[in-house]
Amino acid sequence: MKRHIKNNVWWVGRIDWELKTFHGDDYSINHGSSQNAYLIQEGKTVLIDTIWKPYEKEFRDNLEKEINLGSIDFIVMNHGEVDHSGSLPYVMEKIPNTPIYCTANAVKSLVGQYHHPEWNFKVVKTGDSVDIGNGKRLVFVEMRMLHWPDSMATYLTEDNILFSNDAFGQHYGVEELFNDKADQCLLAEEAMKYYANILTPFSALVKRKIEEIVALNLPIDIIAPSHGAIWRDNPLEIVQKYAAWADNYQENQITIVYDTMWDGTKQLAHALASRIQAISCDTVVKVFNISQTDKNDIMTQVFKSKAIAVGSPTVGKSILSSVGGWLHFLTELQFKQKKAAVFGCYGWSGEGNATLTEALGKAGFSVVEAQAKVNWNPTAEDLDHMQAVAEALCR
Ligand code: FEO
Repeated sequence: MKRHIKNNVWWVGRIDWELKTFHGDDYSINHGSSQNAYLIQEGKTVLIDTIWKPYEKEFRDNLEKEINLGSIDFIVMNHGEVDHSGSLPYVMEKIPNTPIYCTANAVKSLVGQYHHPEWNFKVVKTGDSVDIGNGKRLVFVEMRMLHWPDSMATYLTEDNILFSNDAFGQHYGVEELFNDKADQCLLAEEAMKYYANILTPFSALVKRKIEEIVALNLPIDIIAPSHGAIWRDNPLEIVQKYAAWADNYQENQITIVYDTMWDGTKQLAHALASRIQAISCDTVVKVFNISQTDKNDIMTQVFKSKAIAVGSPTVGKSILSSVGGWLHFLTELQFKQKKAAVFGCYGWSGEGNATLTEALGKAGFSVVEAQAKVNWNPTAEDLDHMQAVAEALCR
């Protein structure tokens, strides 16, 4: 069933309470999610985005209960990723000549995935617009690398709705659709997790894009993203948050991430935590065993941190694979202006700390000189040495 957004704008997406992971298994979903598609019924009837392929039949059937598909004048595809375009071929089976407005890069991603070069693509770029009747227009804004090269947003004049696609979204199921109806803590948490785990590498572009959108001076009453809550109560608050997050965001927090074989490295992690607290009781300190904690949730904590410490015992002249895999993910995100320290126990050769230092440098962290490299189990003296590591991180 379509759900009302404003005037002649309707939500025709799908809330997915069963979804547990996204991007394969690379992103954990803890509180449901949604794929938001929208229907505008003005002088022209416009479909904005579709939903994920497994639900293509449900999507098209629901749409057909609301309208004759043949009455759709055109489709806007803000982004070609399959969670928004997956149902497009199934819709197009019935209306194969319908124009599809999208960026030049979206033509590449849609044709590459669905192999329909004959579709009636209408390529648009920033500032292009189309009349939809009743004095209203759709204005297109390219959102390159937010988060794909093909991404764009679509602005509906008069109703002042920005259909922002992935930007400003969250993997969070909100049955009532709107931000003012959502659990505010979960909404804030999921919006930050989404930014931290997906958009961090593009922060410089996010900053420029927000400046560009603000300079357009468009009144914005609603921001309607393609995942999660629709921002109708104070919609610019999430834009301000994005501006802050894109500006090398950090809070007074230090996050300690480790894995351990026989608890030696675990002892170092907790000794470091207690010493940071003793030095600076205002600093939030969090400790995570990487094998027992969701990697995306740890990454959100890293996003909030001014510094991190990463620990692993030496294994086979390197580090534990759990820590190595996580560091690979950390490198993808390219955090900036954060400090890091390394620590770990070893029995024989002791290359772990060097491996950690190199990996953290590649990930964009400024690695402090103080470290803890402990042969066999930590002694009381070794644990006391964590004071020097704590001081270097707090400085
Ligand atoms: Fe980039 Fe929600 O897809």
